[in-house]
Amino acid sequence: MSQTAKLELEGKTFEFPVIVGTEGEKGVDVRDLRARTGYITYDEAYGNTGSCQSRITFIDGEQGILRYRGYPIEELAEGSTFVQIAYLLIFGKLPTEPERQRFSDLLTDYQMIHEDMKFHFEGFPSGSHPMAMLSAMINAAGCFIPEVMNRYEPAIFERQAARLISQVRTLAAYAYRKSRGLPAIYPKRKYRYTQNFLHMMFSEPDEDYHLDPAVVDALDLIFLLHADHEQNCSTSTVRMVASSRANLFASAAAGVCALWGPLHGGANQAVIEMLEEIQIQGDDGSRFLERVKQRDGHAKLMGFGHRVYKNFDPRARIIKKACDVMLDKMGIHDPLLDIAKKLEETALNDPYFVERKLYPNVDFYSGIILKAIGIPSEMFTVIFAIGRMPGWIANYKEVIESSDSRIYRPRQIYQGEIQRPYVPIEER
Ligand code: CMC
Repeated sequence: MSQTAKLELEGKTFEFPVIVGTEGEKGVDVRDLRARTGYITYDEAYGNTGSCQSRITFIDGEQGILRYRGYPIEELAEGSTFVQIAYLLIFGKLPTEPERQRFSDLLTDYQMIHEDMKFHFEGFPSGSHPMAMLSAMINAAGCFIPEVMNRYEPAIFERQAARLISQVRTLAAYAYRKSRGLPAIYPKRKYRYTQNFLHMMFSEPDEDYHLDPAVVDALDLIFLLHADHEQNCSTSTVRMVASSRANLFASAAAGVCALWGPLHGGANQAVIEMLEEIQIQGDDGSRFLERVKQRDGHAKLMGFGHRVYKNFDPRARIIKKACDVMLDKMGIHDPLLDIAKKLEETALNDPYFVERKLYPNVDFYSGIILKAIGIPSEMFTVIFAIGRMPGWIANYKEVIESSDSRIYRPRQIYQGEIQRPYVPIEER
């Protein structure tokens, strides 16, 4: 028999159905709560609110489990590539070789942005943050594709998704080149996804960048590990915008803005800045941790803690290992890595972090890899955005294709002034 939940309000009992997910997660279905009782639920920051039923990504934060479409992240990280994972997330199945080839060919076909987009880039002052440029330029890119502005059509969605995944990489590289006053570098058909990004970032018109396989693999892994993470702040933003039936490019541009903040995707930049600050102070991290615990200046251990994970973030384990492997292959010794490892060890044994179940998250070690590759810290969150794009697209598709999807529109408990008469300006 299906389970129900009983709620007692003003002496009356109401029953609500319980929804059980395929992994056993339970939720009380309160969709008709207000209509039946006059009450709403209050859940600031949505810590207990399921905003949708989704088939894309599963997380068990207590056990530190992450699966894309049912596949454990550890197995995907070991045996797959970012492009295959993008296909998996968006279309729900691992691509066969012909499907992968077709999707890769689409990515190649769409890698060039419209030449007029260069004039848009020229309008930004030098030193503009690449995340600001990326968000604006994704929206602008949509203007060059009339079909994007039309109603959602399943038949052309693969093309639109491929165009966005491919062009976000070109736009990101151009944003970096613009922020440094460097000439834009065009993509090359012969390169695969991640190779092409590195080429557009670091080649010069008179000299091609040397593509080190260790670097290509590490960056591809970073993209893959960021590809989706269920209903986080930016993905919820994308779903919110999509629910109004805004187009794919507008919804993704909104996702970039949500990702930018230091409590979300901006944390990878903040981690490196924190580690550099600790290094400059000649601290081994212990003085900094004391400041965090004393809440001195609201200091936080960036790259630690997560709304959902109350255990190790499985992505952090994979990235930490990849970081060691890549630095070793490149023969780099980065003192920031030593500080990060010491911070992690100390924090994991400190009652403040233990009691609050604060563990390293995906951002704690990713910045050290990106820094070793030569990617400047203001580009770290852009890298996160390139990686997260397939997840945003998959969630956009899920919203648009859902037969019972309505515009997202939360309610509130009003706590402002009660009704009062207007006072003319001369009487105030
Ligand atoms: N350093 C010190 N204290 C922390 C930290 C931290 N990194 N994270 C949480 N806490 C404390 C927090 O002050 C609170 O303490 P108390 O209960 O005494 O007030 C307690 O732990 C619970 O934290 P919270 O802020 O209520 O947790 P939240 O779920 O609202 O926030 C978070 C989650 C990720 C925003 C937060 O842990 C944080 O700010 N971490 C640092 C930023 C960061 O690394 N963000 C990247 C997240 S992973 C990538 C992504 O998906 O975006």
